[in-house]
Amino acid sequence: MKKINWGIIGLGKIANRFANDITLSKNAILYAVASRDRDRAKAFSQKYNVAKIFDSYEELLKDPDIDIVYIATPHTFHFEHAMMSFKHGKHVLVEKPMGMNAEEVTAMIHEAKARNLFLMEGIWTRFIPATEKLIELLAQNIIGDIISVKADFGFKADFDPKSRIYNKNLGGGSLLDIGIYPIYLSLLVLGIPADIKAIARMAETEVDSYCAMLFDYANCAKAMLESTTEADTPIEGYIYGTKGYIKLHRRFHHAKTISVHLSGKEEEIYHMEYQGEGLLYEIEEVNQCILNNQTESKKLPLSTSFNLIQIIDRVKEKIGLNYL
Ligand SMILES: NC(=O)c1ccc[n+]([C@@H]2O[C@H](COP(=O)([O-])OP(=O)(O)OC[C@H]3O[C@@H](n4cnc5c(N)ncnc54)[C@H](OP(=O)(O)O)[C@@H]3O)[C@@H](O)[C@H]2O)c1
Repeated sequence: MKKINWGIIGLGKIANRFANDITLSKNAILYAVASRDRDRAKAFSQKYNVAKIFDSYEELLKDPDIDIVYIATPHTFHFEHAMMSFKHGKHVLVEKPMGMNAEEVTAMIHEAKARNLFLMEGIWTRFIPATEKLIELLAQNIIGDIISVKADFGFKADFDPKSRIYNKNLGGGSLLDIGIYPIYLSLLVLGIPADIKAIARMAETEVDSYCAMLFDYANCAKAMLESTTEADTPIEGYIYGTKGYIKLHRRFHHAKTISVHLSGKEEEIYHMEYQGEGLLYEIEEVNQCILNNQTESKKLPLSTSFNLIQIIDRVKEKIGLNYL
């Protein structure tokens, strides 16, 4: 069977974790990597046994043997790098958030569709066993009618105006970097909110270092979500229903344990281990889509990425977060 040849552009933290998991895939080869720094590309290629290195992202994209590009650059470059990849006829897996706003995401989706190329946002947490289990439990209506979703994601990042976390030019702020995970959970479980309330605290660089969100849904369900780069928080997820609740244990977005707590019953615990860094499941989903000539994933369709960024845009508006 044909193996999918992957290229990676931007060799930072997540690219390393991703490369590790490609080596676990039977359907994929990490064929080429590109960095702005040739020495970094060389060291990376030696670590993960990569055949080709480039010191220019565009030169990698010109390589005819690459099937798909994984874009692991800071948020503000996702649009530019995805569009450049499409121009060279490459399928794209782009890190989250797919773009900086709904306009960028709309244009990316349009371009991928026009060229009949695959596009997906790198929400790898959608594909891990715990998320599949959660979806199965919710489909069984095990906790009754859902009344609310509660999730937090916070880690303490010391203030550095140049870092990706705080630098506005790199798309800094907690909302886009980690707030996206609680929001994705709410979208998965409850859909698109009818009303959004949000408050934030801004860092000196005018990006949010704390964001609290309250979503209200047409069926009266609620979501209470938080993200912050000021403190380490529990990083837990809860789904409350009329018959009990489901807990996604720390770190909820890539949980290895889920527990179901039904009123008046013993808790039921599911241990859901995953292989490698957990990114393998996302990689296999993409491999299968490409092998089957699908231009989007059924599990993480482009409509989900569009809905996600639209919700984020609404939160940005409420908290006065502006990247223009
Ligand atoms: N899915 C996840 O779990 C997860 C986790 C972490 C991050 N992410 C996402 O992945 C993206 C990268 O995050 P990261 O934590 O890997 O960041 P990082 O360690 O800072 O790496 C980003 C890489 O982008 C490249 N780059 C290109 N232009 C750049 C510029 N002007 N400034 C800085 N870097 C530039 C650099 O690679 P070269 O110098 O090699 O070209 C750099 O190493 C972000 O969008 C983030 O949201 C996802």
